[in-house]
Amino acid sequence: MFSKSKRRTGWVALAAIGLGLAGAAGLTRLAAAEGRLSSEGPMIKPNEAGMKVYKEANCVGCHKWHGDGGGGYGGAALSLRATALTKEQIMEVVRCGRPNTGMPYFNRDAYAAKECYGVGREELGESAPMAGPRFLRPREIEAVVDYVLAEIRGKAEPNYADCTAFFGDSSRMCQHYRPAGAEAGATDAAGRPIGR
Ligand code: HEC
Repeated sequence: MFSKSKRRTGWVALAAIGLGLAGAAGLTRLAAAEGRLSSEGPMIKPNEAGMKVYKEANCVGCHKWHGDGGGGYGGAALSLRATALTKEQIMEVVRCGRPNTGMPYFNRDAYAAKECYGVGREELGESAPMAGPRFLRPREIEAVVDYVLAEIRGKAEPNYADCTAFFGDSSRMCQHYRPAGAEAGATDAAGRPIGR
């Protein structure tokens, strides 16, 4: 979203230059370029925004980069790879957290207006979940849930390619997943990085 609007500003600036230099001809060329541009779609990968939230909201701290979860300071975080929840249910868990567990809530107003599970903070008392490390806007909640659905839920064992997609190609975090004997940058017959 952000980079898209930045790019648009760039085009407006370019349009101004184009007008100054080439008048109507410049405008026509620019209009054609804009057409091409919008049909190409956004430059950022669709799940990039969600991955960013996954990192910043520290889902990664408890559920790990691969989403399989495991033990941690929040208790045993459930596997998001193995979860049977639907999109709506995952959205609710992220908005509301889970009472009596280490899963925090990320919607600032979760328990102010009884929006979650029909209860308020008073009723929950001690069993109220803790707040997440930062609150998320509805748009961010949807983005992180879409990321979980696209890249984590239902996926098989995490592998080297998944890991480098998360941390970047050269990350030492991924050494553990590198298939034995694979050269850096080696590809298979189809040109895909080995380990995918
Ligand atoms: C402080 C640790 C912690 C953080 C941070 C955290 N979780 Fe959790 N999460 C948990 C724990 C613990 C559970 C298991 C709750 C239970 O036992 O029912 C859980 C459960 C879940 C579930 C329910 C899975 C199921 O199958 O029932 C989802 C979905 C989920 N987390 C998504 C997220 C997302 C997305 C984020 C980031 C926005 C996040 N969590 C951040 C600890 C955490």
